[in-house]
This record gives sequence, C-alpha cells and structure tokens, in this order.
Amino acid sequence: MSKLYITGQKRLSGAVTVQGAKNSALPILAACVLARGESVLYRCPQLSDTEASLRILRWLGCRTERADGTVLVHNDGLTRCDIPDALMRQTRGSIVFLGAVLARQGKVRLSFPGGCAIGQRPIDLHLKALRRLGAVIRERHGWLDCRAPHGLKGADITLPFPSVGATENVLLSACTAEGVTTLTNAAREPEIRDLADYLNRCGARISGAGESVIMIEGVRSLSGCAHALIPDRIVAATLIACAAVTGSTVTLKGVVHSHLAAVLPVFEDAGVAFSAREDELRVAAPQRLRSMKIIRTMPYPGFPTDAQAPLLAAAATADGTTVIMENIFENRYRHAAELARMGADIKTEGKFALIEGVPRLYGAAVEASDLRGAAALAVAGLCAEGVTELGGVCYLERGYERFEEVLSSLGADVKKV
Ligand code: UD1
Repeated sequence: MSKLYITGQKRLSGAVTVQGAKNSALPILAACVLARGESVLYRCPQLSDTEASLRILRWLGCRTERADGTVLVHNDGLTRCDIPDALMRQTRGSIVFLGAVLARQGKVRLSFPGGCAIGQRPIDLHLKALRRLGAVIRERHGWLDCRAPHGLKGADITLPFPSVGATENVLLSACTAEGVTTLTNAAREPEIRDLADYLNRCGARISGAGESVIMIEGVRSLSGCAHALIPDRIVAATLIACAAVTGSTVTLKGVVHSHLAAVLPVFEDAGVAFSAREDELRVAAPQRLRSMKIIRTMPYPGFPTDAQAPLLAAAATADGTTVIMENIFENRYRHAAELARMGADIKTEGKFALIEGVPRLYGAAVEASDLRGAAALAVAGLCAEGVTELGGVCYLERGYERFEEVLSSLGADVKKV
C-alpha cells in the first residue's frame, strides 16, 4: 500500500497543465462501445478509474492501446454482453456501460457498480429512464438483467433530480434508439456536453447538452472519431486549493474558465487573486486565507460537491468561520475527522460542516477513505507544519494523475513510498 509523505509549508511556484477530466473519460470510454471502428481520445488521464474502464472494454471485445495521454479504442463488434462483478465494482462510473451495451447489443447483464463510499448512490433514476426507452430490467441478487425485446424507442423523460450518471445513460441508450428522446431536467455538467460532443462527432444527433432539456434524434449507427477531452475542473479546483493554503502563486494551463465559474468567487472571497488569459489561470494567494462564510454544493452550475473536500481543507486554516452545506451526497465529510488529527477544528452534523479556521495545521498520520477526501488531506499536508503521512493513496489515484509529480514540479516536498 503506497503512502504519500508530505513535508508541509513549502511555497509553490511555476506552471502546470491540468489533466483531462476523469468524469468525461469514463462515459466517453463507455460510449466507445457504440462507435464502430476506431476512436482516438486525446488527453485521457491515466488513472485507476480509467484503466478499469479500459479493462471493461477489453472484456467486451474491444482492443485498446495507450500512448501517454492518447487512448485508442478499436471496436470491430462486441463479443460479449455481460460485465463481471469484479470489473463493475472497481468504479462507480462503470454504471454507464449499462446504457451503452444495452443500446449496442440489445441486452446486458451486469452487477451494481462500486466506487467511493460517499453516500448510498442508488441507480433508480437510471433504471426508470431506461425503462421509459423500452428496456425490460430484472434486478436479482445484486445483478441487473436488461433487455430491449422490441428495441429501444425514443421517449419523453423527466428526471426528478439532474443526476449526472442517469443523464449519461440516457444519452448513451437513446442516441441509436428509434425516434426522438427529450430529456428534461438533465444534468448540465460540462462532462455531459463533452460526452454529447464525442457522440455527435461519431454521428449522433444530440442537441441541448449542457442545458436542462436535451433532444436526441436516434440514428442507425455510430462510427469512431478523434476527440480531445475537456480539462478536469475538479483537479483545477484542487490545485487552486493547494496554492491557496501555501500562500503561493502558480499558473494553471489548459483551463476552461467558465467551468470554474462557481469555484473562483469562493476563493476570491478568501483573498485569492486570479488573472485569466486564454486557457491559462494565474492563481495568487495571500499569506493567510480569510474564511469563506457559507458554501452550498449544488448541481452544475452550482458549487461542485467534488470540490467541497479540498475547499474544506483550505477553510480549516483560514481566518474565521466557514460553513459548508453538502447537498448532493450524504456521507461526504469523512476527511473531517482525519483533518482533526492535524489540528483542524471542524464540526459536522448531517449535511453541515462548521469550520473554525486555525492558524496552523500539524503533520500527522492520516488515512483517506475516498477520492476527494484524499485530495483534501493532501491539501492540508501541504500547509501543515512537519510531515504528513497520507495513507489510502489508491483513492487519490482514482482521479489525480501522478499527483505527487505535479505537486513536486511546483516545488512541494511530496514523496510516494
Ligand atoms: C457524478 C460524478 C461524481 C460527482 C457527481 C455529482 C462521475 C463518474 N461521477 O456521480 O464525481 O460527485 O456526479 O456531481 O461522473 N441519485 C439517486 N438516484 C440515481 C442517481 C443519483 O438518488 O439513480 C442521487 C445520488 O445518490 C446523489 C445525487 O443523486 O445524491 C447525485 O448523483 P449523480 O449526479 O447521479 O452522481 P454520479 O453520476 O454518481
């Protein structure tokens, strides 16, 4: 089990390029199931989660190759329509193979997905939407047996909540269905738009992705294409938190500024200055952050739940009191208890966290138990006095590509052992 050893209080400087978005890569890799021939994905991050998706693609009969950030998927027809439990459990994102394989093969058998334990994470909205498209789904002993005996047919679907995964499953299953699908109250995250852009390049007819109402005109088939993934806005937010807690000035390259529209003002309130130029963002942090008052996580374009943990770590050393209201997942404060070992003063109650900023955190042995919680502990380690021994690095590696190298390139003292 690897650990990160972070010797804190080093000022960061320099520039880094933000990796491609994990949450785009996972649905787009699943979408490769639908596209005949070759798909080339640029800026596809090398993470345990993306490698798990590539393993599923190979299991299903695709060939895959990776050369640095470029992934090639050759799909000359799938040889299977089932996914073993061991592969499904490796990520939460594996659930999007449900819509993709069902659409391509007319049937699919898979188990419930795994992923970080940040809440119950049901899939009822996915299943309800697929049933509206004509899927017959049996749930038994942790397995889902799905068939489309009469083919998938376009339908009007309204999601009661703009679920990211359910929206992706609808796009994947409806784009080769017969007729038109209208999805109302769709998730608006940039990764949805990225998935639709990939599918449209492959020949799909999707309009409105990134807005609340998405229209999908079914086409007969899709063919592979070349597509560059969007940059990872959560990694960008995490790197901003790293600069913010260390009073540093760094430049992030390859950023889409509009994707960070809810994140930057929160850091600005804390005293961080930003200057944007083309796809670069210069981040200049003060000696000590001010508290951020109240932050509410919301579906996009609201403040992202995935950036909550790194922000909480930054608030832990800010001057004053910050309140966070976590509205998306019910179990997303597990890093708070670990931060307390480093001297943070955080009280959590249900969806609320009350953070009384302390002047200094101290290095300690801490254990991550989910992806963004791991990032929060790394952020705290960067500003803590002494050495932080961060366990649970496997969680970090689900979403952050060579994180220790990125931080070291900025001047942090981080070693992976
Ligand atoms: C995706 C992201 C994750 C991010 C989340 C919210 C990927 C691989 N993961 O997760 O990083 O934190 O969006 O931005 O893209 N829900 C239901 N029933 C369902 C589906 C969801 O009740 O069928 C609930 C969930 O329990 C949660 C909320 O809806 O409370 C949001 O979930 P959703 O948007 O679906 O998140 P994911 O797609 O799992």
